[in-house]
Amino acid sequence: MKQQLEQIKATALAALDAAANPVALEELRVKLLGKKGELTAVLKQMGKLSAEERPVMGQLANAVRADIEKKLEERKTALDAAALEAKLASESIDVTIPGEEIVMGHQHPMNMVLQEIKDIFVGMGYQVVDGPEVELASYNFTRLNIEEGHPSRDRSDTFYFNDEDSVLLRTQTSPMQIRAMEISEPPICILAPGRVFRKDEADATHSPMFHQIEGLVVAENITMGDLKGALITLMKRIYGQDLQMRFRPHHFPFTEPSCEMDMQCHKCHGTGEVDGQVCSTCHGEGWIELLGAGMVHPEVLSNCGIDPEKYSGFAFGMGLERMAMGRLRINDLRLIFDNDVRFLNQF
Ligand code: PHE
Repeated sequence: MKQQLEQIKATALAALDAAANPVALEELRVKLLGKKGELTAVLKQMGKLSAEERPVMGQLANAVRADIEKKLEERKTALDAAALEAKLASESIDVTIPGEEIVMGHQHPMNMVLQEIKDIFVGMGYQVVDGPEVELASYNFTRLNIEEGHPSRDRSDTFYFNDEDSVLLRTQTSPMQIRAMEISEPPICILAPGRVFRKDEADATHSPMFHQIEGLVVAENITMGDLKGALITLMKRIYGQDLQMRFRPHHFPFTEPSCEMDMQCHKCHGTGEVDGQVCSTCHGEGWIELLGAGMVHPEVLSNCGIDPEKYSGFAFGMGLERMAMGRLRINDLRLIFDNDVRFLNQF
């Protein structure tokens, strides 16, 4: 038995020395020391030995086992170290290679201008609100005093969703006036920016989708002076203190009286001519239309359960694209929607 044990030890150590990787090492461990291993097989025969021999052999067997375990441990450490060495060598990092530049985007120019406008109105106490783009015809038209048969309700101008023409893509942000008055009591002071949709062919100044910013103020003793004050403040903040503006009488079914606000053309300074040619920015008008506005029609207040004897209000609706084009000197509306980064990066 002694010989047997010596033999096991000698082959085991040699095999361990030859083991080339951790997997081979693990297989050897099982083969040598496991329950079905060679050493265990020898130990099972201990019972056949005499009482004197047994402790001697037991000691020897333990010593062989300890030697094998020690060798295993050594080989494992050596193989792990070699594996780490190889990994480090193959994964070498060159810390001097320049990094790849990450291209940072920024706000779309139209959102920049929207943000400016919102900031100005928030500073005047307005609350910014949001509403649905898919709207009921009753909000978009009827309750705004736009009666059946009005040309703006025509199917050639408005995108409808059903045969009864009762659900549509809003053609203006004015339905937000109704929604605001419906859910709150005066004083009301809101700004409602958002997308609107009309069946327009796209050209330099038209697009089937564009943005409006609706404003509504309803309280006691609100006058046209308040309307003019708010809008003049806005335009001077956006375009500069020297801006020349004018209010022209106009008609909207939901305001009375109604007006449009123009600013003097920044290109021809109101003359309508540039170098003897008709100014291309204002088409010779000298003025650029900015928005529609007026005092909320008493009928519209009543439609929303607000007493027109007690309260009055003003409303306005401006085109965001037009404001952005004026503010950033952009001459073609389509550039705003093309999302060509060569254009966008200029702002
Ligand atoms: N909704 C009108 C339009 O789209 C603009 C407007 C808003 C006019 C509010 C008066 C009051 O032309």
